[in-house]
Amino acid sequence: MTRRLKALFERHLPRSSTNGTGVTVPIATKLILSFLLVIFVTSLIFIAVGVQLISRRLVAEAQEKVRNDINAARGIYVAELDQVDAVVRFTAGRFFLRNALLSGDIGPAARELLETRLREGLDIFTVTDPSGNVLFRASNPELSGDNQSHNELVGAVLDNRESASGTTIFLAEDLQKESPRLAEQAYLEFIDTPKARFREETQETSGMVLMVAAPVYDYRRNLIGILYGGNLLNRNFDIVDTTKQTVYKGLKYDGKDIGTATIFQDDVRISTNVKNEDGTRAIGTRVSEEVYDRVVRQGETWIGRAYVVNNWYITAYEPIRDINDRIIGILYVGILEQKYRDIERRTILIFLAITVVGAFIALALAYLLSRGISGSIGRLASASRELAHGNLDARADVTSNDELRELAESFNAMASALKKRDEQLKAFAQNRIMESERLAMIGQLAAGVAHELNNPLQGIVAYSHLLLEKAPDDDPMRSSLQKIVTQADRSKDIIRGLLDFSRQTKPQKMMSNINHILLECLSLVEKQPLFHNIEIEKDFVGNLPLISVDPSQIQQVFMNMIINAAEAMEGNGRLTLETRFDPVDKTVDVIFTDTGHGIREEDMPQLFDPFFTTKEVGHGTGLGLAISYGIVRKHRGTITVESEIGKGTTFIISLPETVEERIITS
Ligand SMILES: Nc1ncnc2c1ncn2[C@@H]1O[C@H](COP(=O)(O)OP(=O)(O)O)[C@@H](O)[C@H]1O
Ligand SMILES: [Mg+2]
Repeated sequence: MTRRLKALFERHLPRSSTNGTGVTVPIATKLILSFLLVIFVTSLIFIAVGVQLISRRLVAEAQEKVRNDINAARGIYVAELDQVDAVVRFTAGRFFLRNALLSGDIGPAARELLETRLREGLDIFTVTDPSGNVLFRASNPELSGDNQSHNELVGAVLDNRESASGTTIFLAEDLQKESPRLAEQAYLEFIDTPKARFREETQETSGMVLMVAAPVYDYRRNLIGILYGGNLLNRNFDIVDTTKQTVYKGLKYDGKDIGTATIFQDDVRISTNVKNEDGTRAIGTRVSEEVYDRVVRQGETWIGRAYVVNNWYITAYEPIRDINDRIIGILYVGILEQKYRDIERRTILIFLAITVVGAFIALALAYLLSRGISGSIGRLASASRELAHGNLDARADVTSNDELRELAESFNAMASALKKRDEQLKAFAQNRIMESERLAMIGQLAAGVAHELNNPLQGIVAYSHLLLEKAPDDDPMRSSLQKIVTQADRSKDIIRGLLDFSRQTKPQKMMSNINHILLECLSLVEKQPLFHNIEIEKDFVGNLPLISVDPSQIQQVFMNMIINAAEAMEGNGRLTLETRFDPVDKTVDVIFTDTGHGIREEDMPQLFDPFFTTKEVGHGTGLGLAISYGIVRKHRGTITVESEIGKGTTFIISLPETVEERIITS
């Protein structure tokens, strides 16, 4: 590779890609970092969405479950009431009771009533007369005679003559009457827990009873008495424990019951299997204000998270109504949230593990992929580095099936082309050297011949002129003499041209104004007949820097240009002379433009060769451009030519300005 080419490569091919701070970041690192970013972002989104979905799904499932569970609990509650209902109504229809009431003496029925109460496990089993005055209490035989028509269900039977059943509240005094034991069972003191609803009272003395009242008729369907029975729910754990057993099979989690059920009287737990910290049933604790408001005040079912006594549960609460549809309590079921939280946590952990493993696999793949890419790029980079250092045989070996291979192929093609171009350049340079050697030899030969011929020719010219002057006008020899003179002058011109061409004189340089030299040339030619019909246009730039040239040699060059132009226009046309300063190349340019016949394309290569002329024999020596070329080269300048047949020709002579020599003319 030539030195110039090499320099070019080193300037334009950076060794490696560097960023603004000068730190080189390998492509593989960049690729991996971007992969990492993508993986990280997608994993984050994936995890966020996944966790959301899992939690929501689990919560929805748990809520669906408690919704079913509360239905089951209600079923058990109603079944319990139905059982009381069956006993009371059946007994109310039996002969022994009817007959006893008809006879006006309840005594004979007492025994049967006592037995039935014990057998059916009823807390309350009482007979009244048709006005509601108590005749006999199986739970408290000692006390009778009081009136119970204020009782909702007894009142309902009195009003409707039909049996009535439902949940009702017994005040302490009524419970006391039915049995002191029941009043005691119902009594409870409130226990405060976190989040429990605030209440001023500190105790509950009344009780909630599953109760049925049925009419007793005589044979003509006259009301002769009322039988009512019931079970006190306070501290009676049948319903809640049956629910727990049926629905949750007594499953435990972390030592705690997973499923719990509770009956509230208003806001107080009167029957429950939710435990206090000490393991006792949480009787006397109260519901939260939030749940109370929703279920008791607004009469709606609550499904959702709730803090129960001392733990979070997924819960369902629904109102318990009396026969007049007033809300007097709450039925509750709940599943320990902990279990679902743990399932959720486990599921999320598994999910996270899968995501992380996935991310690592993706990362590994990304690593392999980027290594492949950066390997190809690395090979390309090292091949181009080698090329830049002059090894034109450097080739990039990329086998991957992608654009990088195309790039490598283009690179290899480029390297081959460069190599070919380099070889051509070498051959061309070689030719030029041989050519100039040949020209130099011709020059030396011509110079020798010219030098030898010069002296004899001087004699011929001098004497032929003398003879012509001396010969009378009518001398018949005169025309022959005239021819000798012409041919001798012509030979003199050729010899002088040859001598000029071969003269190795060094230019006598001095700071000169090119505009001035041009003007001088013009003053020499303007008077000549060849220029009479030529319009000369001057386009000189004013502040042309002075440059260091040999003024007489440069004048010779300009004269050649001007005369060639005039000859090409055959004395008719426009010659434009332009000077300018090229600030980029730091040259003074002189531009000769004519409107002559132009130069044929095929003549271009020989244009500057000595003796090349297209002019008729006797008119051109073919030395003008060759001499001009030599002079301009000695001044380190260039001559360029552009031409169009029939339109004209432009010669541009560029002479360099050396900085230290630069002086601007005013
Ligand atoms: N301005 C020009 N227009 C057209 N042809 C030109 C011009 N200048 C030079 N030439 C061509 O270049 C040839 C060589 O020119 P030159 O070396 O001066 O020799 P000569 O003028 O003696 O022929 C000319 O014969 C001519 O064909
Ligand atoms: Mg000429």
